[in-house]
Amino acid sequence: MHPAISLPTLIAHRGYSAKAPENTFAAVRAAHSAGVNWVELDVQLLGDGTPVIWHDADVARCSDGRGKLRQMTWPQSQTLDVGRWFGHDFTGEKMPRLDAMLALLNELGMGVNLELKVNRGHDPVALVERVLPEVLEVLPPERLVLSSFDNLALRHSRQFAKPDNLALGMLFNRLPKDWQAQCREVDAFSVHANWSRLKRAQAEAIQQAGYALFCYTPNNPGDFHPMWAWGTDSAITDEPERFQRYLSAHPAKANGPENV
Ligand code: G3P
Ligand code: MG
Repeated sequence: MHPAISLPTLIAHRGYSAKAPENTFAAVRAAHSAGVNWVELDVQLLGDGTPVIWHDADVARCSDGRGKLRQMTWPQSQTLDVGRWFGHDFTGEKMPRLDAMLALLNELGMGVNLELKVNRGHDPVALVERVLPEVLEVLPPERLVLSSFDNLALRHSRQFAKPDNLALGMLFNRLPKDWQAQCREVDAFSVHANWSRLKRAQAEAIQQAGYALFCYTPNNPGDFHPMWAWGTDSAITDEPERFQRYLSAHPAKANGPENV
């Protein structure tokens, strides 16, 4: 048994990252304002062990500063502006700490696909041990899917909670031959596949094996349309409103536009 997760049709990737700087409070609020109740966010550790919501191994792309995350302390991270790179309206946005982001998700009643982001040279075990107890304490299991490309991170996560209390998602770029064995080993809830590489037979096999299927990161709803019929449960997209509009006009799922 897994947590009774009501699968969202759409998940806003890194928050609503087409509308607001990725992985920020503003991006989560933008998703909520658009009526999208689930977000995907990346979590990793700063050099001083503080868990933060961030994607890259460094801060160059998404802030006004430079430097590697694992050489940064929390006070240093808070000197960065992580919004202005995206647009002037977001000037002053700060790198979110995990606890503050979890509080916002709870305040808004949102679900999260939290990705344990293990960049090259980072320690998956330290990440899991720092992040998972906090997340499990704060979020109800029905509003959490914890995912990773990192097999060790997922195996270690499974030691913290049983399958009925923690939904784990296995992220794959290209689906490997032994995907099912990997999923079984961690008692996965879901498979998160790169939509542009997934074949129809693979999607169907994932469904038949009883896993939920999440696809990342389609941004053109017309191109993605056939994949709903392949059994996709949730699309993780930067453009959730584009999908909402498209799906209202071209229903693709039996559960109808109210869940779009
Ligand atoms: O979780 C889906 C997707 O976020 C995985 O890739 O690089 O965007 O974190 P990335
Ligand atoms: Mg991610």
